[in-house]
Amino acid sequence: MTIRTIPTDAFTQQLVRIDQLIATGKLPQAGKLLNTTHRRDPHDPRPLLLGAKLARAANNPQGELQAVQRAVALSPEWPVSVMELAFVLSRQQQHTEALEQARKAVALAPDDLEVLSRAIAVANAASNAEQALEWARTALALVPEDRMTLPGAQLLRYEVAQQLVRTGQHAQAQPLFARLLEELPDSPGAHQGALACAAALGDTGLHRQHADALLALEPDNPRYQYQRAIAYGETPATQPEEIVANLFDGYAGRFDLHLVRGLKYRVPELVAQRLLELYPDRKFNLLDLGCGTGLLAIFLGPIEGHIIGVDLSEKMLEQAARTRLYSRLHHVNVLDALRETPSDHYEAIACNDVLIYVGDLGEVIPNAWRILKPGGHFIFSCETAAEDEADLVLRSASNRYAHKASHVEQLCRQAGFDDIRIEHLEQLRMEGGQPLPGFVVVAHKSTGHAGLAAA
Ligand SMILES: C[S@@+](CC[C@H](N)C(=O)[O-])C[C@H]1O[C@@H](n2cnc3c(N)ncnc32)[C@H](O)[C@@H]1O
Repeated sequence: MTIRTIPTDAFTQQLVRIDQLIATGKLPQAGKLLNTTHRRDPHDPRPLLLGAKLARAANNPQGELQAVQRAVALSPEWPVSVMELAFVLSRQQQHTEALEQARKAVALAPDDLEVLSRAIAVANAASNAEQALEWARTALALVPEDRMTLPGAQLLRYEVAQQLVRTGQHAQAQPLFARLLEELPDSPGAHQGALACAAALGDTGLHRQHADALLALEPDNPRYQYQRAIAYGETPATQPEEIVANLFDGYAGRFDLHLVRGLKYRVPELVAQRLLELYPDRKFNLLDLGCGTGLLAIFLGPIEGHIIGVDLSEKMLEQAARTRLYSRLHHVNVLDALRETPSDHYEAIACNDVLIYVGDLGEVIPNAWRILKPGGHFIFSCETAAEDEADLVLRSASNRYAHKASHVEQLCRQAGFDDIRIEHLEQLRMEGGQPLPGFVVVAHKSTGHAGLAAA
C-alpha cells in the first residue's frame, strides 16, 4: 500500500509508525496500536490495509484477505485498496479474481503509472500475457516522448517487448529490443529478448550475435554457454539446472491452472490410470521424478506405500508438499537422484513431462532399471521427435527436448527392460493452439536380473 500521498496529520503519522513496527517484526506492538487507531476512525480503510499487512507478516493469509476485503468495502472507489485486494488475491493464487480487481483499479485510475505497473504484475502472475501487454502499452502511452530514455520508461518498453515475445509477436518485439540495446548495449535482459526473437524468426546470424554477446558478458554462466551451443546448432546433453529452476520457480503458482485447464495437459492423469491398472491393490512405492506440484499424486490418491518426489524447483516442491501425499520431497536433480538411489528400491518410477528438460537418456534409463525392484515399472513421457530426425532433438522454439520413440525403446531394451509398451498420444497438451504429440512409455523390469544396467 502507499500512504505517502496522504497528508501527514497525526493519524497518518500513527499509521506510518505501525507500518514501521510491522516492517521491523514488532507485530504485537503493531497489533495493539492498530486496534486503537482503527477504533478511532473505523471508516478509514488505511488501518485495515495495515491490518492486512500485519496478518501477512504473521503468516495469516485468511486474515490478510479479510482485512483487505473490508478495506475495499469501506472505499470501493479508492484504487489503492482495490489494487491491494488484487495483489493479495494474486499472491493467494486466485488469479481470475485478482485480474478482475486489477481491472477495476485500472478503471478507477487509468492514468496512474503505479496502479498500471501493479496491474501488469498481477497479469504476469496469472500468465495472462495479452492483458499484461495491454496494460504495459497503456502505461507506455502515458510517458512523454522526451522521457522515453529514462529508466522507468525503458523498463516499460522492455515489458512491452517481453509481452510481445510471450504472445508470439516476435517481429514486433525485435525492433523494441534493438532500440533498448542501442541505449543499453550490455543489458542481458535485452540481449535475451533479442536472442529469443532471432531464434523464433530463424535469423541465425542475429541469434549467434546475441548468444556471443551474452557469453562475452559472463563467460562462466551455464545458461549462456547452453544458449550459445544451441545458436551454433549443437544439442547440449541436458539443460542447466538454473534454467529449469528459474523457469519453474516462476511458474509454480499458476502451473496447475495454466497447464491442466489452459493447455489441457493430461499426462499425470493417464499415468495415474496406468499405475492403478498395474497395481490395483494400490500397494507400491513410487518415485516421482520431477514431481512438480504433485499432480500425479493427486490423480493417484492415497496408496499403501510411499510416494517420494524429487524436483529442481523449490517452489514446485512447496506446492507438492501442500498435497500431503508425498512421504518425502527432495530438492535434487533427477540425474543425481537416480545415481544416488540404492538398487532394487521401488516398485514404480514415474517421470512425467520432465525428460523434455533432462535431454539425454543414456544414464536415466539404465539407472531407473537398476533402482527398480524386479517386476517394477518405469513410466515416463516424452515429446515426439520424428523417426527421420536425430535421436535427441532440442526444439529451439520451445527450448525443450524431443525424443525418437524407436531410440527410447532401444535404450530400454539395452538397459534390461523386457516388456516395453509405447503409447503414442496425438496430444500431450496444447502448444500455441495446436496439439503437441508425444508418447508414454511403460517399461517393465523382469523378475530375473538380466539387464546391462549401469552399476
Ligand atoms: C512440466 S513440469 C511436470 C511436473 C509433473 N511431473 C507433472 O507432470 O505435473 C516439469 C518439472 O520437472 C522439473 N525438472 C525438470 N528438469 C529436472 C531435473 N533435471 N531434475 C529435477 N527436476 C527437474 C521441473 O522443475 C518441473 O517441476
